Amino acid sequence: MITIIGSGKVGGDAALFSALKRLDDQILLLDVVDGLPQGEAMDINHMLSEQGNDVDVTGSNNFADMQGSKIVVVVAGSGRKPGMTRMDLLKINANVVKSVVENIKKYANDSMIIPVTNPLDPMAYVTYKASGFEKNRVFGMGGMLDLSRFRQFIHEATGHSRDSIRALVIGEHGENMLPLPRFSSVSGIPLSSFLTQEKLDELVQNTKHVAAKVIELKGATVHAPGNAISAIVESVVRDRKQVIPVATYLDGEYGHSDVTIGVPAIIGKNGVEKIIELDLNDKEKQAFDAGVKSVKDAISGIEI
Ligand code: 2OP
Repeated sequence: MITIIGSGKVGGDAALFSALKRLDDQILLLDVVDGLPQGEAMDINHMLSEQGNDVDVTGSNNFADMQGSKIVVVVAGSGRKPGMTRMDLLKINANVVKSVVENIKKYANDSMIIPVTNPLDPMAYVTYKASGFEKNRVFGMGGMLDLSRFRQFIHEATGHSRDSIRALVIGEHGENMLPLPRFSSVSGIPLSSFLTQEKLDELVQNTKHVAAKVIELKGATVHAPGNAISAIVESVVRDRKQVIPVATYLDGEYGHSDVTIGVPAIIGKNGVEKIIELDLNDKEKQAFDAGVKSVKDAISGIEI
C-alpha cells in the first residue's frame, strides 16, 4: 500500500498519477478533514473504472488504516499562499509534520517516508529526526519538481524535445535553489552548445522563480508536484535506481553534516541507495552552502 497523508490538490494528484502508473494495488489518501479524502478517492476511482484500471484508491480520516504501507508521502500542512515564502510556513507546518510522523511510527514503522510539505528541506529534517528512521528511508521531494521546470525552460529555449533534455537542480528547495547548467544537457551535448551564457543565466533565474509565478496565477502548484511525487515513488517500487535529487540527510557529503538538503541520489527499493557527490565549482559550491545555511538557520528554530 502507498499512503498519501494530505488530500488537497497535490495529494490528490499524487494519488491520481500513482494510480495511473499502477504503482501499487492499494493507494490510501488520508486527511484530518472529514469527507475530503473520501471524495477525492471516489472521484479517482470513477475515472479508473472507465479505464478498466483495478488499482483501488481509498480515502480515510483514520491513521490506523495506513498499517502495512511501504511508502508514506507527507503532503499535509498549509500551502504557500501568494506573496508567502516557503520559510513563512516553517513553524505552522513543523507541528503538523511532527504529529503526522508520530502516526507513521505507530502504524507504518517499516515504511519509507517522502516529505513534501514546505519548507521542504527543514520539514525533511523534522521528519528524519522525529521518526528515528534510518537516513535512507526519509527523502523529500523538491529537486525532482525543480528540475522538471528547468527542463521545460530548456525545451522552450532550444526547441528540442523534452525527452532529449536532462536537467539537474540541487540545493535548497527555496530561495537558494541551485539549477546546474553544467550538469544538464541535450542528449549529452552541453547546453553551452545551444545557448549563450546570458540565456542560461536567464533560465536559471526563471527556474528559481516560476513556482511563485504559478501560485500568483492559479493559487497553487498542483500537477508538477503531484507528478514529481509519483516519479520518485516509481523509482522505489520498480527499483529503477534512477538518479533523482532528493532532500536527504547529509553526514559529511558535500562537506556538511546534520542537515537535510537536495542532492542527487540513486533511488531504488531501499530508498536512498547512494548519494552522488558532484564536483561543484566555487560559484556552485557557494550557492549550495548558502542553501545549507538557510536550512540550518531554519531548523535551529524548531523543537523536535
Ligand atoms: C513548488 O515549488 C510550492 O514548493 C512548491 O511548487
